[in-house]
Amino acid sequence: MKNLIIYCSRRGQNYVNGSIKSLSRGNAELITEFIKDAVGADVFKVDTVKPYSDDYMVCTEEAKAELKAKARPELKEYLGSVDGYDNIFVVAPNWWGVYPMAIYTQLERLDFSGKTVHYVVTHEGSGLGDVPKTMKNSCKGAKIGASLAVYGGSAPGSRSEVENWAKKAVK
Ligand SMILES: Cc1cc2nc3c(=O)[nH]c(=O)nc-3n(C[C@H](O)[C@H](O)[C@H](O)COP(=O)(O)O)c2cc1C
Repeated sequence: MKNLIIYCSRRGQNYVNGSIKSLSRGNAELITEFIKDAVGADVFKVDTVKPYSDDYMVCTEEAKAELKAKARPELKEYLGSVDGYDNIFVVAPNWWGVYPMAIYTQLERLDFSGKTVHYVVTHEGSGLGDVPKTMKNSCKGAKIGASLAVYGGSAPGSRSEVENWAKKAVK
């Protein structure tokens, strides 16, 4: 079984446990490492050409405008295909109830026929939100597998939970 992780995560200012903190590594970035360690995987990072603000409040406004416009922001690099992989993990934060628009920029370009997509949402209280509703349409041809919501403040301590979840997902 060959696994791939497609992730997006934002370092710097974020809202954690009710206050603004600066994260040296993003929560979804940590979860990506835990999954990779558990099941072995190639990793693709979704990164936008236009960076989001380091300022948390400004970033929430940028993200809100993108969501409203159903924007598909341009990426620095695109993954051309998921051929050769059996399981694809998508790992990204909850931004206003769904994934950051940039994740959809990438997912919508791929053909997931014959693949299983598992997904993780890091969040600050909204859990999976509406992400489950978006997955089927965004991942053309995929079988949607397991999902996991990880509270951002708990992400650093979630290694064993995430590892067990990932191992079970690919079984
Ligand atoms: C632009 C933006 C919008 C967010 N919207 C939500 C939200 O609607 N619900 C929620 O629970 N958390 C929300 N959050 C918090 C993030 O989901 C949470 O901090 C997550 O752990 C961040 O993961 P990351 O460090 O990998 O980027 C938002 C954060 C940002 C920056």
